[in-house]
Parts: sequence; structure tokens; C-alpha cells
Amino acid sequence: MKIIKSAAKWKKLKAGGLFKGRSVGFVPTMGALHEGHLSLVRRSKKENAVTVVSIFVNPAQFNDKGDLKHYPRPLKDDIKMLEAEGTDLLFLPGAGEMYADDYAYKVTERDLSKTLCGAYRPGHFDGVLTVVMKLLNIVGADKAYFGEKDYQQYLLIKGMAEAFFLATEIIPCPIVREEDGLAMSSRNRRLGPVERALAPLFHKLLVLRRPPARIKKALAAAGFRPDYVEEFRGRRFGAVNLGKVRLIDNVQVKG
Ligand code: PAJ
Repeated sequence: MKIIKSAAKWKKLKAGGLFKGRSVGFVPTMGALHEGHLSLVRRSKKENAVTVVSIFVNPAQFNDKGDLKHYPRPLKDDIKMLEAEGTDLLFLPGAGEMYADDYAYKVTERDLSKTLCGAYRPGHFDGVLTVVMKLLNIVGADKAYFGEKDYQQYLLIKGMAEAFFLATEIIPCPIVREEDGLAMSSRNRRLGPVERALAPLFHKLLVLRRPPARIKKALAAAGFRPDYVEEFRGRRFGAVNLGKVRLIDNVQVKG
């Protein structure tokens, strides 16, 4: 696996025929990789000749500075996992280069980004859309893969790609869960043992055939601090706080 640490270097390599006309799949991540991320890498491997992964803990999308500080960064383990999957290229940019403009330019969405998680994390989706726009422009892939675990993020990125006529096709991938139903997340490793034992109840309550308001109440009674449980476009979305960790999940609601 070739590791490239700057956009400038990437540009040079691309101009020198890095991809040689082969199809390119791209999986942007913030690292602390798990089976959820790896499912995206496998899908890209299946559908493209070259697979690129990026790891960049994007400061612009962390409205909570404590969350940014404590975000796990096990880079050596990540590299091993990506090599084991047969990843071709790893892009590891630095914040100085990615935000050389000091975040003077940003991508903003007016409606969906203000609801659900956006209502609780001001500026979060601007940060996501801006960094994804930068990464997609640098990498220049044919397809980019995003998990339905962050379904609102997927919808926003897909909308951005359409609105700006981006060349990369945005592809959604199903949620990968632990055996007990908890959606895999890099933040799960910050749960204490008691919190980890309670966490699967979030998904178990979210799938019940009950009105969202009742599910929210049940989550609070069980010991979570719920932000919201809401239905939107045939899906039920939820976000809860457990200890110092914020968990999100979503499920399809049957008609
Ligand atoms: P991160 O949380 O590292 O996730 C990277 C990608 O993996 C996202 O598309 C996310 O939806 C997907 N993913 C995470 N957990 C998953 C799971 N359990 N099942 C399926 N897919 C899963 O999302 C981000 O990073 C950032 O916002 C990013 C898009 C990289 C921009 O900074």
C-alpha cells in the first residue's frame, strides 16, 4: 500500500499517470477503523481496479472540541488493517494543507443539514461537506463509498454531488453491526464496560413499532440521554448520549 501524505504530492503523482486510466474507488474515513469501514473498502475493491482510502480527523466537523481531542487515532493498526484488505493507496493529509485558507471557504446546505443531528451539532455538516468536497476533488475517483450508519451525512453528500455536478458517483453501503445489534462506530471504544453493556438497547428500542416520542421516553428511562428520535423519508433516526459518548443509528420503518 502506497501512503501519500499531501495533496500536492498526490497531484504530482496523478499527473504522472498514477491511475493509468483504471477505475478508482474511494473510501474517506477519520480512522480508528472497524468492520464498518472495511465493508466499504471491500465493496470498492469489488467494483474498481484501484481502491483509495483517506484518513483525516477533520477538525471542522467537530463542534465539541473535547470529542476532537479524544477521537481515537490508532494509525499503526489502521494501516495494518488496510494492508490486509489489499488497499492500494492511503491518503493521509495534514490539517495545515487541507485548511490552508483557514476555513474561509465552506460548503453550506440550507435545509436537511439543520435538522436531526444538525440541530444538535451546529456547523457539523458544513465541516463534513467542505472536507468531502476537498477530498473528492483531490482524489478524483469514479466512485466514493459512504455508510448508511451516517444516513443524514450520506443524503447531504449525495445532494452536494448532484448540486455541484461532481464527477464522482456517491454510493451508499449498509450498516455493519455488532452481534448484539449496536452499530459499529469508532466512538464505541470510548464506552466503559457498563455503558457498553447498555448500548445495544438503543437499537433494540429504535426498531420497535411504537411512535418516536414513546421510544425517546423509553430510552431516557433506560439510562440514555436522548437527543432525538424522529422519522424522515421512511427511516427512523435516533441520537443518544451515553456517558461521554454520542451514539447515532437509523432503521428503515416498515409501512
Ligand atoms: P468515519 O466516521 O470514519 O466514517 C467513514 C465512513 O465509514 C462513513 O461513510 C461512515 O458512514 C462509514 N461507517 C462508519 N461506521 C459504519 C458502520 N457501522 N457500517 C457501515 N458504514 C460505517 O463519516 C466520517 O468518518 C466523516 O464524516 C467523513 C465522511 C470521513 C468526512 O470527514
